[in-house]
Amino acid sequence: MKKPQNELRCTFVSNSCNEALARGIATSFLIMLDPTAEELADVRCSVSEAVTNSIVHAYRGTSGEVAMILRSYDDGTVKITVSDRGCGIGDVEQARAPLFTTAPDEDRSGMGFSIMESLSDKLTVKSALGKGTKVTITKKLSSKKSSPT
Ligand SMILES: Nc1ncnc2c1ncn2[C@@H]1O[C@H](COP(=O)(O)OP(=O)(O)OP(=O)(O)O)[C@@H](O)[C@H]1O
Ligand SMILES: [Mg+2]
Repeated sequence: MKKPQNELRCTFVSNSCNEALARGIATSFLIMLDPTAEELADVRCSVSEAVTNSIVHAYRGTSGEVAMILRSYDDGTVKITVSDRGCGIGDVEQARAPLFTTAPDEDRSGMGFSIMESLSDKLTVKSALGKGTKVTITKKLSSKKSSPT
């Protein structure tokens, strides 16, 4: 894998107020790369879904750390990983299926992974029960600007 042109790492506790914070951080990182309004909205929404999952599902009934790493590459590709050390997912394929949710009574619709998949160019999910989950969102920006202006 080629070296990123820019990289930002952050960790925050799994408080729901940090969903907006994570969106804001992703926006600040991307804006330097001159994204279209649609690309920016897509990344903001994907980050929100991934971070919300870590906060809501991974650390259910407890709290823990969520890590987010943003990287940009010289061809305009942006990769964002959101990881937690929470409960993990037993069957990732099932979890990624549209409408699958383990929290229907909390008004969850089971569409988070499907949304992330449709708004990104690639979505990878690695998870182990009892160890945690790592979601990587890949988005290619049309501007091809890889470094801050
Ligand atoms: N970080 C995570 N840790 C543990 N389980 C997770 C994590 N992310 C997702 N899951 C599991 O995968 C399921 C599907 O996630 P998805 O985001 O698609 O739907 P949802 O969160 O249930 O509903 P929605 O995102 O529409 O509010 C969740 O219900 C949960 O069981
Ligand atoms: Mg979700």
